[in-house]
Amino acid sequence: MNTTPSAPSAPPVAVVTGAARRVGSEIALSLVKRGMAVLVHHGTSTVEAEAIVSKIRGMGGVAESVAADLRDPRAAACTVFEAAERMGPVSVLINSAAVFQDRALPWIDSYHCSLHVNVNLLAPVFLIQQLVRQMAEGETAHVINILDWRAQRPGPDHLMYTATKAALLSVTKSLALQLAPGILVNGIAPGAILPPEDRTNWHQQRAIQSIPLKRTGSPQDVCDAIDFLLSSRFITGEIINVSGGEEL
Ligand SMILES: NC(=O)c1ccc[n+]([C@@H]2O[C@H](COP(=O)([O-])OP(=O)(O)OC[C@H]3O[C@@H](n4cnc5c(N)ncnc54)[C@H](OP(=O)(O)O)[C@@H]3O)[C@@H](O)[C@H]2O)c1
Repeated sequence: MNTTPSAPSAPPVAVVTGAARRVGSEIALSLVKRGMAVLVHHGTSTVEAEAIVSKIRGMGGVAESVAADLRDPRAAACTVFEAAERMGPVSVLINSAAVFQDRALPWIDSYHCSLHVNVNLLAPVFLIQQLVRQMAEGETAHVINILDWRAQRPGPDHLMYTATKAALLSVTKSLALQLAPGILVNGIAPGAILPPEDRTNWHQQRAIQSIPLKRTGSPQDVCDAIDFLLSSRFITGEIINVSGGEEL
């Protein structure tokens, strides 16, 4: 009889973009609590990314960080997955990084457009492409794109942000079909979760005026929706609003 203890199996690996701060960092921490190893992607927030990695390791979890500028989406996606592959096959990709700028039509220029298109739309597309390339035959995976409820009902503001999130919603549904049955592709459409750092009262004003539940949400509400989707093997192409009903 073989009494040699079997080696502990390596934890499943998740890539979270924009995971150094705010909502993305809470997503990374919640995936660690699910037993996953996490690659903390970041742009400029290197110090914060290292702090999250240290925190995860302090919890007994597995994490690495990688910097990649999503304005160059194809190269960044390669960089992220080269780093991720060192941790083992990636089975979860959460596209959370985004730019969120508001410009009225007269002040829209091509840099503003390409910034939003590259970071909010093309980076998730190329990251999903890299996920597919590193998967072995018969493996399964989850992709969750973080959208915005405004993608389904555009307002007058944040023109390019909303347009690129709407395009990512379309990509989510198309790829749910194209990548089935091995990869489940879903979206989460948050409402008022954390206010922009330059407009701290913004969400509170919205909460009073337009959110049926009369309060803002929290990153934990987004993490709970991710947890639900990761627990399912029979939901794909779905968009979950985490918005207090603001889209209604
Ligand atoms: N906060 C809300 O209430 C709310 C509401 C609706 C939807 N959402 C969506 O939820 C997600 C997370 O929201 P959030 O408020 O936490 O996002 P955020 O703070 O606006 O941005 C998340 C991260 O995106 C990264 N990023 C931006 N440009 C990048 C680039 N060129 N290269 C690499 N990384 C880049 C930044 O990383 P670095 O800091 O490392 O540069 C940033 O920390 C986003 O997709 C957002 O659209 C949020």
